Amino acid sequence: MNIDTRLTEIYDKVTQKAEAECIRLGDKIPYIPKEGVYQEDMGTTDIAWWTNGFWPGMLWQLYHATKNNLYREAAEGVENRLDLALEQFEELHHDVGFMWLGSSVSDWRLTGNPISKRRGLHAATLLAGRFNIRGSYIRSWNDDKVGWVIVDSLMNLGILYWASEVTGDPRFRFIAEAHADTVLKNIVNTDYSCAHIAVLNPENGNLETTLGGQGYQQGSAWSRGQSWALYGFILSYVHTKKESYLEVARNIGRYFISEVEKTGYVPVIDFKAPLEPKRDDTTAALCAVCGMLELAKQTQGTEAQYWQENAEKILLASCDKWADYNPCTDGILGGGTVAYHNPEYQQVPIIYGDYFLIEALVRLEGKDFLLW
Ligand code: GLY
Repeated sequence: MNIDTRLTEIYDKVTQKAEAECIRLGDKIPYIPKEGVYQEDMGTTDIAWWTNGFWPGMLWQLYHATKNNLYREAAEGVENRLDLALEQFEELHHDVGFMWLGSSVSDWRLTGNPISKRRGLHAATLLAGRFNIRGSYIRSWNDDKVGWVIVDSLMNLGILYWASEVTGDPRFRFIAEAHADTVLKNIVNTDYSCAHIAVLNPENGNLETTLGGQGYQQGSAWSRGQSWALYGFILSYVHTKKESYLEVARNIGRYFISEVEKTGYVPVIDFKAPLEPKRDDTTAALCAVCGMLELAKQTQGTEAQYWQENAEKILLASCDKWADYNPCTDGILGGGTVAYHNPEYQQVPIIYGDYFLIEALVRLEGKDFLLW
């Protein structure tokens, strides 16, 4: 079977399963299924949880691809529920980008709903309010983590670029660019691996140390962190056209490919961890796939082909090894891992893995919209 036929077959099976999940869940907010069932509704247990935008994001991608109102109604329901998180804003941190790009900003992009625009601008304003002007960074987390910047933050910047676009006020974009430059300077290593966390001096932005975070250890290369950096930098390039972001995304992408070539194109949790025990993280795989598909769009000729072919290889290898297409169970892409040292959630389906799988598939079918 040729690659295009295999990809279309996967697209058909995944969308059938996603439709069945949507019928079962509606506006409940899933995270990680247990024994094949989404038992927990994050809208009830933790409305401010950082992953709560991925389910509506998945629904909006599917609505855009199919025009089936089932997805739109469920996504609108989740978006209404997220208003509670905006009210409890002390619980929120920098992941307001993930949360409201997938919900309100997507709704506004696809339907023009003015209430969604207001919610998106509210979230963008909260994110901008986290900017440290002397350190030139957006603080990631709360409490005593005043100088902490995590690589995931790059994926939140889209809401700032969007806010500048819709308001005509460049301040949001200035903050996003300043932050992306700080991440480039402090988190990307000379071999183009990336740290998860940089601890900066909040008085002047000087780097104090880096931390391993959800990866193996300090100085290691947590694979999802590499994916956040790859996709995050190419997105900043899309929004700013700054060559330094394209260049670093290319280099991180090449590093990622050189690592997954060693393990049959399915990434392990950390590229610089001991070879055993060998455990996968398919969420890293599919986020990187989306980043590579964007790189393919932003480049030409043999280079574009290189990104496209590697993206397809990683997607196919991850699905061959880990996908569950049974519409009666919840969670599509197994093999996702929350953190190297958290044995509870390893090699399981996670909502963001499924989101990036859907985004990758609709991209390959030419039916996507840029959510970020
Ligand atoms: N820190 C968000 C993540 O798990 O990638």
